[in-house]
Amino acid sequence: MEKRKIIFDCDPGHDDIMAIMNALAHPEQLEILGYTTVCGNNYVDKVTRNLCQVLTALGKDGKVAVGYDAPLVLDPDPQPAAHGESGLDGPTLPEPTVQPINQHAVEFLHEMAVKHEKITIVALAPLTNIAVFLKTWPELKEKIECITLMGGSRSSGNILPRAEFNIYEDPHAAKLVFESGVPIVMSDIEICLECATPHTMIDALKGQGKVQDLAHDILQFFSLYNRRRNVPQSPVFDLVPVMHMLHPELFVEKPCKVQIETAGKYTQGMTIVDDADAEHANVRLLGHCVDVEAYNAYFMENLKILNERI
Ligand code: RIB
Ligand code: CA
Repeated sequence: MEKRKIIFDCDPGHDDIMAIMNALAHPEQLEILGYTTVCGNNYVDKVTRNLCQVLTALGKDGKVAVGYDAPLVLDPDPQPAAHGESGLDGPTLPEPTVQPINQHAVEFLHEMAVKHEKITIVALAPLTNIAVFLKTWPELKEKIECITLMGGSRSSGNILPRAEFNIYEDPHAAKLVFESGVPIVMSDIEICLECATPHTMIDALKGQGKVQDLAHDILQFFSLYNRRRNVPQSPVFDLVPVMHMLHPELFVEKPCKVQIETAGKYTQGMTIVDDADAEHANVRLLGHCVDVEAYNAYFMENLKILNERI
């Protein structure tokens, strides 16, 4: 099988790390060319450090290129309530030996797009880096097989009643990306909630191995919001695009036309999803997971595989 060449554009972030761990478990399918970081869940220096610490803890190297520290137009709006003050509260992590490369995220994306026949961008954060890359080098759009992103919603929100964080945080960048013509796979809030992971599975990770212990400590913190409300499972949002690349058979896709609200007083970052206009579709929306049990079994299995490989 030909390996898919991927770049993570991310703001780690508990669920970003779960996505990366699952991809690291399958180098035969996914070749990680590198990581670009961006201001999102927290400022870019914090999320970059989090990523470097986790890669160090896993004994993995990797190219980490630092990107923008603010959205294109709006001010940053960090989310300590969801991810803690560090952006990755919960686990105890080592001082990083992995260090960012001396190249801006957007330059790194450019270099990778020029060098490789096709790349996939796995976008797990506000779309600032990607928007600037596409605007600066539109001729390289054809080198992008797809942008598979976590963001948006059909009818819900986690920042505003109708807006999801990654789109809300930089709606101007999202508009540029969604209107770029590059193929987009969209994992929205609804599919992430459908694929939520039972807390019993998170609890059972403890003591299974070094990787599972780390995942346990990360997910314990990330699931506090739902545990405090007696909800028995939690969404691991950013994992969905990676699971879709590894197991597309688990998902039903829907071609949709998606537009971004940038100006609305009550709707900043709202994604207007039209599933009745397949003719003008700019997005393949992951509309439904056919086997959530299998999804979560693969999630746990991938952590086990990674543990055996480090
Ligand atoms: O809305 C969920 C998104 O925002 C995820 O990418 C998560 O990491 C959070 O920061
Ligand atoms: Ca994220």
